[in-house]
Amino acid sequence: MSGPPEAGWLNLLIGLLQGVQLQLLRVLDALGLVAHAHGQPAWPWALRLSGENLLIDLGQARRLGLTVVLLSAALLVLVLALLWRRRRVWLMALATLLVVAAPWPEANVVLVPAYPTSFQSSPTGFTADSIERGRGLYTAQCVACHGTDGRGQGPLASTQPVWPPNLSGPLLWRRADGDLLWHLLNGMRDRRGNTTMPGFGSTLGDADAWALIDFMKAQGAGESLRAAGLWTQPIAPPDMTVQCGSKPPRRLGSWRGQRLRIVATGAEALPLLDDPRLVTVTLAPDAGASASQSGDCTVASPAAWAAFSLIAATTQLAGTQFIVDRDGWLRARGEPGKGAWSDDDLLCRTEQPPSSGARPLAPDGLGALIARMDAEPVRFVKGGFVH
Ligand code: HEC
Repeated sequence: MSGPPEAGWLNLLIGLLQGVQLQLLRVLDALGLVAHAHGQPAWPWALRLSGENLLIDLGQARRLGLTVVLLSAALLVLVLALLWRRRRVWLMALATLLVVAAPWPEANVVLVPAYPTSFQSSPTGFTADSIERGRGLYTAQCVACHGTDGRGQGPLASTQPVWPPNLSGPLLWRRADGDLLWHLLNGMRDRRGNTTMPGFGSTLGDADAWALIDFMKAQGAGESLRAAGLWTQPIAPPDMTVQCGSKPPRRLGSWRGQRLRIVATGAEALPLLDDPRLVTVTLAPDAGASASQSGDCTVASPAAWAAFSLIAATTQLAGTQFIVDRDGWLRARGEPGKGAWSDDDLLCRTEQPPSSGARPLAPDGLGALIARMDAEPVRFVKGGFVH
């Protein structure tokens, strides 16, 4: 997975920026000082601190980091000055010196335009139903420009002032979800203020726009699998309602912290042995097709079947297996009819694929895959912020 530099201090700095801004918004909201937009507190300023630019411009990130450290020191010295009257003048001078000496970063790198929705997060939970809802809307309203596969080759693409972007590239992951929402509902403009992407605020509700974002991510994952043979951006399994025997139904997402194996039922599916390392969930396209034994965990849902087909970029899902890691990311896919797991099945990686190619992982392919998955957790960067 093409990741940003692995510098721990950069993660810390970016996390700090995001945390401080989010907390500030929460405090202002609790005090009743901010308006609401699209159902969530609205960011009240036209600018925000940018995580995504810091990932690209390490030099500016270093300057910002150092500035934060020096300003914190200056603040400390000021507090000291208040308490220590005899040395106050000297301490004040020192604090001023620290502020002046700080290598302030360039404002246009650190600050970027913000929208009221910039810090909003998706309320959908990335469910199979939401992806399906998005699929219908996408087909009706977006295909003309963005194309059926989201690569920007729709029939109207060439008549646009700028070419529609490839939605299966890193774009959707680079942007904050809240910024995507704003662009969908309000459109986009070029530097001269001319519309480039039309806004859909008059035809789409908030839930529609969030559903479209879910669909575009699922489709983007499938397209990257088609093009690169990998899920180049981390993707979660679509959430869905799971029935385990006669127990009350629960959400797939409620197993976070445990590894999951999701098996699409079908003629070609291998017999499944219980495996203590994983929770096994079988997926069926409809209630009639589900071959559940009592105690098994099953999902019978056309929406879930379609969503997994989209992410796996296949029309023949039956017999496909998926492995989800403890952090809730889809990591591996076993193709139908394949006997053993191999290194090549790991589709969401944190480093370059090993050059040795497809070799079965002896002695226990699944065990080795799990070991690698656990040893190389996904570091998810969204909108420049590490989650
Ligand atoms: C009339 C053509 C057209 C239609 C219809 C259209 N788009 Fe776009 N879209 C564009 C163009 C052109 C851009 C690039 C705009 C730019 O970069 O300034 C774009 C950009 C985008 C982006 C990237 C946003 C970003 O943050 O950079 C997303 C996501 C997107 N469109 C989604 C959609 C969805 C979802 C629909 C359907 C509801 C849709 N578009 C309908 C033309 C269109």
